[in-house]
Amino acid sequence: MEKLNGKKKLNVSVLISGRGTNLKSLINFSKKKNSRINICLVITNNKNAKGLNFAIKNNIKYLILNYKNKKKAESKILFNLKRKKINLICLAGFMKILSKRIINKYKGRILNIHPSLLPKYKGLNTHERVIKNKEKYTGCTVHIVNSKLDDGKKILQSKIRIYKKDNEKSLAKRLLKVENKLYPKAVKKFLDTSL
Ligand code: GAR
Repeated sequence: MEKLNGKKKLNVSVLISGRGTNLKSLINFSKKKNSRINICLVITNNKNAKGLNFAIKNNIKYLILNYKNKKKAESKILFNLKRKKINLICLAGFMKILSKRIINKYKGRILNIHPSLLPKYKGLNTHERVIKNKEKYTGCTVHIVNSKLDDGKKILQSKIRIYKKDNEKSLAKRLLKVENKLYPKAVKKFLDTSL
């Protein structure tokens, strides 16, 4: 492992399923002077994930998995994480649930970003549900992954107001920008406080 100012520089793998704006912001963060992360591997379950373009542009190795057989897919994940000496995994819009096999192996070393103010609104369709419930606020959370869905210790959260004129789409769009800022900040906090 490389060292930066006496501290370990971590090899990071980012797992995505789609557009990859959070991957992009983590890549930008990794390129900053004094950054303690090296993104060495992008993994996806979706061969058409737009986010793969960010890996390609930045010369980051990527792996496309066929998730029809989850067990095989996860074996490939584990094999490649080991091969690339990955120390930290960031889930960034990865829409598959990791099994205990991976979570236990990388205990406390898997982060996730979720588009709600956890513990509220775990799971899918968060924007639809917050609007339906006439919430005044929503937000996003970066947390450590444990074996329960969208659970685990919170690292950072950002909150935004929901306006009367908001719909699912406008809310998702506004929140995404906030997510893109939050994820690198949370990774930095995690590294500074936990590793
Ligand atoms: C983000 O809104 C992220 O919070 C969400 O998927 C989107 C990915 O966007 N994640 C989940 O819903 C996980 N349960 P991106 O591909 O542009 O980063």
